[in-house]
This record gives sequence, structure tokens and C-alpha cells, in this order.
Amino acid sequence: MKLLILRTLVGPTRLRSTVHKASICSSALQWESGVSLVQGASRGIGLEFASANSIRERYGRLNLLINASGVLSIPDVLQPETTLTKVQKSSLMFAYEVNAVGPILVIKHMWPLLKAGGGSGTERDVAIVANLSARVGSIGDNRFGGWHSYRSSKSALNQLTKTISVEFARKDPIACILLHPGTVDTDLSKPFQRNVPDGKLFTKEFSVQKLLGIIDNVKIRDNGKFFAWDGQEIPW
Ligand SMILES: NC(=O)c1ccc[n+]([C@@H]2O[C@H](COP(=O)([O-])OP(=O)(O)OC[C@H]3O[C@@H](n4cnc5c(N)ncnc54)[C@H](OP(=O)(O)O)[C@@H]3O)[C@@H](O)[C@H]2O)c1
Repeated sequence: MKLLILRTLVGPTRLRSTVHKASICSSALQWESGVSLVQGASRGIGLEFASANSIRERYGRLNLLINASGVLSIPDVLQPETTLTKVQKSSLMFAYEVNAVGPILVIKHMWPLLKAGGGSGTERDVAIVANLSARVGSIGDNRFGGWHSYRSSKSALNQLTKTISVEFARKDPIACILLHPGTVDTDLSKPFQRNVPDGKLFTKEFSVQKLLGIIDNVKIRDNGKFFAWDGQEIPW
């Protein structure tokens, strides 16, 4: 089996590349047969997925696609807004491109390769697409406001994923799910960790093990669902 680590090139003004031109940013590990693919694995949660032997042990072919890329803040480019007065078109567009447009185009181009039946001896009857979303993308769960660009880009990712899941249900044995990893100690969360309650900042290892536990148990009936790290469903 191979584990491919893919970096799509999503830029602030245009989507510079789709999967056709995407560069493989890390080594493809050789295993018995097939390919699992982690998109956005240069660091953070995606890297932890990719360096988790468990993926290679559990999945084969393009039986599993994980879209892990995402952005919350970039100095002088994108800052989580605390008020409507700070919302800018450029921030909204940037967040949408990276957090929603990129992952969905990756799925579009990988769709023909996604096949059920992978995994060492597991004979799965479903291929899996797992998109890393965030609880703040839930409209029903939005009690605090703020972070307009990030929130709404994750809501867009959620809606696009749900829409894809409806089409998959008609055409292919692919379960497309959304995952909230919890608040995880990565570059993305670093500037915002001050107010995280004790015990609520997870290590990458802890979060990825929890998420792999969910992925491991995904059934076709889970297509289109939005799960938190602890397996609870999150409202839309
Ligand atoms: N950490 C948390 O607390 C938390 C909470 C909820 C949800 N999430 C979600 O979990 C996912 C992973 O986050 P993380 O914490 O691992 O973040 P991270 O450590 O900052 O890693 C982000 C990943 O996204 C890629 N990426 C960023 N901008 C990109 C662009 N313009 N085009 C293509 N790839 C780009 C990065 O690649 P480069 O290294 O090449 O930039 C990197 O691989 C994200 O979708 C995030 O929204 C995280």
C-alpha cells in the first residue's frame, strides 16, 4: 500500500492548482498494495495522520482520503475577526479557497479512484472521505459569534460535503464524513490557546487516534455525518 501526502496549492487570489498539478510533498511509502491519501500533511494533524502506522495497517487502495488542510490565521493576511467591522472581502475569499474550495476539488478529482474493499484483510464495503472541519462551522452550535471567515468557510465545507454525500449515496459506495478534531496543539491553534480550559487542549497523537477510531468504524449509513473527536454527532 502507498500513503500519498498531497499538497494542493491554494492561494489568496486564485486556486493555483487542482489535483492535476498538485505536488506530492512527501515520500510515498510502499506497502503491500494500494494507496491511502492525506491531503494537507506537511504538519499538524495531517502529518500525524500520515505518520500513523495505523493508516497503512488499516486501509488500502484509494480506500481512504483525508482532507486535512486548513487555515485560521496568517499574519497580515487573515485574522479571526472579533467584529463585523473587521470583516474583509480578501479574508473571506482566502478562507473559502483554502478551507472549502481546495478540499472539494481534491474529492472531485479523486472520486474515480475511490474504491471500496481496501484494508489489510478487512474487506471494507465502503470507501471513505474524511474532511477535517471544525465545530465552529456548525450554524446550530454558534453561540459566541466572531471568526466570520473561518466559521463560514467551514460551514461552506460542511454544506459541500453534505451535498457530495447525497450524490455518492445515489452512485457509489463512498462514505463522506466531516470530523472536528477538538482543540489540538498545532500551529493553527497556537495563537488562540490562552483561553482553552485545562485538559481541553489535545495532543495531535490523542486527536488522531480518536479520529482514526471513528474512521475505522464508518459505515455507509454514516455518509454525510459530522462527527466530533469523541464520536458525538455535531448539529449543522
Ligand atoms: N488545531 C485545531 O485545534 C483544530 C481545531 C478544529 C479544526 N481543525 C482543522 O484541522 C485541520 C488541520 O489543522 P492543523 O491544526 O493541523 O493545522 P496546521 O498545523 O496549521 O496545518 C495546516 C495544514 O494545512 C495546509 N495548508 C495551509 N494553507 C494551505 C494552502 N493555502 N494550500 C494548501 N494547503 C494549505 C498546511 O500546509 P503548509 O505547511 O504547506 O502550509 C498544513 O499541512 C484544518 O482543516 C483545521 O481547520 C484544527
